[in-house]
Amino acid sequence: MTLKVLAPMAGVTNGEFCLKMSHYGFDMLTLGGYNIDSSSISAGESILKRGRREFKINIDNYVNVIKDESEFLNVNWDGIVCVNVRSTLSENIINIGNLSSVDVIEINAHCRQRELVDIGCGQALLNNPDFLFNIVSDVIENVDSKVSVKFRANVDGVDDLFIAKSLDNLGCDFIHVDAMMPGVNSADLNLLKKICSSVDCFVIGNNSIVDVNSARKMVAVGCSGISIARKALSGLDDFNIKDI
Ligand SMILES: Cc1cc2nc3c(=O)[nH]c(=O)nc-3n(C[C@H](O)[C@H](O)[C@H](O)COP(=O)(O)O)c2cc1C
Repeated sequence: MTLKVLAPMAGVTNGEFCLKMSHYGFDMLTLGGYNIDSSSISAGESILKRGRREFKINIDNYVNVIKDESEFLNVNWDGIVCVNVRSTLSENIINIGNLSSVDVIEINAHCRQRELVDIGCGQALLNNPDFLFNIVSDVIENVDSKVSVKFRANVDGVDDLFIAKSLDNLGCDFIHVDAMMPGVNSADLNLLKKICSSVDCFVIGNNSIVDVNSARKMVAVGCSGISIARKALSGLDDFNIKDI
C-alpha cells in the first residue's frame, strides 16, 4: 500500500486545515512547518513582513501551540500525525517529537527562504551535512516518535544520494524528498529511482503531483509513499487519492 501524505505548508497546514483534508483519504497529515527556536522564529517574522504566509509562534509557547494543534488532529482523526519543524537545535526538535500527540517528527532540510538559509536552517542544512547528521542522530536517539527528514533535491553543491544514504544509515524512518527540478514543472523521477534503490527506509516522493497519473509515476520508480502540497490548496475533489 502506498502511504498518502499531506505535505507541510507553513501558514496553511494547521490542525483545522489538515482535518479538512483528512476526508480525502490521506494516511499521514503534516502540520507546519513551524519555526521552533529564537533564530528561526525571528526569520519567520521577517518572512511574514515581506508578505509570505508563516505560522507565528513565540519561543515561550511553541511546545504548547504544537501540542494543541497535534492533539486537535489526534482527537478528531485516527491517522498518522506528522509535524514539520525548522530548527538547528536538536533539543527543541526533541521537545516536539516527544509530545504524545505526535507520531512523526519531520526535520526540515528543505525551506529555501533567504532568512532561513542565512541562519543555516532549512535547505542550508544540506550544505553542512555533518551538522545535519548530528541533529538527526541526536533526535533519533532521544524521541519516542518516528523520525522523518524532508529535503529539497537538486540544490547546488549537494550530493542527494549521499544525503539519502546517510540518513538511512542513521536510522531515519522516513526520507521525504521534494524531487524538484529547477525551472521544470515535474518531479525528478530518475533521482527518486536512484534514492529508492539505495536505501531501506521509507521514501516519500514529493513534487508536482496533480493527479493519479503523476502519483503513480512516483510509485513506479519505487517510492513507498507520495505527498501532495499545492494541489491540496485548490481542493482534491477531481482527484481520488485512494486510486493511487
Ligand atoms: C505555501 C507553501 C508553504 C510551504 N511550507 C513548507 C514548510 O514549511 N516546510 C516544508 O518542508 N515544505 C514546505 N512547502 C513545500 C511543500 O511541502 C512541497 O514540498 C512543495 O510545494 C512541492 O510539492 P507540491 O508540488 O505537491 O506542491 C511549502 C509549500 C507551499 C506552497
